[in-house]
Amino acid sequence: MAEFTVARFAGDGVGPEVMAEADKVLSAVGGAFGHRFRAIDLLLGGAAIDRYGVPLRGEDAAAAAAADAILLGAVGGPAWDSPTRAVRPEQGLLALRKRLGLYANLRPVALLSPLVDASPLKGALVEGVDLLVVRELTGGIYFGRPSRRWRERRGRAAVDTLVYREHEIVRVVRLAFDLARTRRRRLASIDKANVLESSRLWRTVVSEIAADYPDVDLEHVLVDAMAMHLVRNPARFDVVVTENMFGDILTDEASVIAGSIGLLPSASLGAAHAGANGRRLGLYEPIHGSAPDIAGQNRANPIGMILSAALLLRWSLGLEREAVAVETAVADAVAAGALTADLVTVDHHALSTSAMGDAVAGRVQAA
Ligand code: IPM
Ligand code: MG
Repeated sequence: MAEFTVARFAGDGVGPEVMAEADKVLSAVGGAFGHRFRAIDLLLGGAAIDRYGVPLRGEDAAAAAAADAILLGAVGGPAWDSPTRAVRPEQGLLALRKRLGLYANLRPVALLSPLVDASPLKGALVEGVDLLVVRELTGGIYFGRPSRRWRERRGRAAVDTLVYREHEIVRVVRLAFDLARTRRRRLASIDKANVLESSRLWRTVVSEIAADYPDVDLEHVLVDAMAMHLVRNPARFDVVVTENMFGDILTDEASVIAGSIGLLPSASLGAAHAGANGRRLGLYEPIHGSAPDIAGQNRANPIGMILSAALLLRWSLGLEREAVAVETAVADAVAAGALTADLVTVDHHALSTSAMGDAVAGRVQAA
């Protein structure tokens, strides 16, 4: 019987509620496949600020780094949101990504076919969408220095810095090409090369790397045009690679295709462990936020969190069969009509967060 250590940051808002459902599903996986998942609970974001005064303690980051994988709920909320605050929940998440070297954020967007009507886009457009956004996660304008505010004679001013170094582009773009090879062999690289110098470097490096992947069909797309293509013809894309902030914005947009942002998982990966059959330390989180408006109501959709646990099984623990079992259980539950409030039109037909988790965990156990 294999034992794995999973560090858990439930975080803020609906984070703890959806985390509980991922936990339920992992227990079911453990029972069905004979594994033990040992959880270590750690504080991040607003929860850590309230307890320790900082959004992430160094020792908690170290404990997470020592685990086999990390699960994260969501961070942030109105209690910590004032733009004048020096200490913010999001800083904890950014510090964790940076400190653990999690430079590649994988955000798959696929439509579960029973949910075709949940998408606000026309069915004919979203049918068959299966795209994977690879977002650079530890560089760009999120981390560039200087980043500060000051006062001058004519008023206030602020600066953020968008900087990319070649090695930061190379590693994430190579991963994207490698992933394209495991899929439909198409890669779209998104930039703003008509305006930004950093994007011209990005585009140059991508074109150079493409020489090593003659079997992958590459296109460069400007980010503003991409925003349009995503809602006009999303099925055209396979793997999409882009820098940090463009990826942040485009993946919220892409989530609409699937019907609800509550459905979508993500995996943030660092370098592969040397020698260890391609396994990597990773942090797994739904792409939705802390949803303070519904926190504590047992209404949040736990599927993005549960599918994040499936990605954890696949990418960090090397448990492909188990990952597929969870993904199949989610698809089967949804096909059988298990839907949370974000996916139904008539509210009294909606399952609660915990009932949705039960529906998935039960199917994993029965598999
Ligand atoms: C995301 C979130 C984060 C980001 C925030 C919470 C810092 O929007 O993971 O997409 O901007 O990366
Ligand atoms: Mg975001």
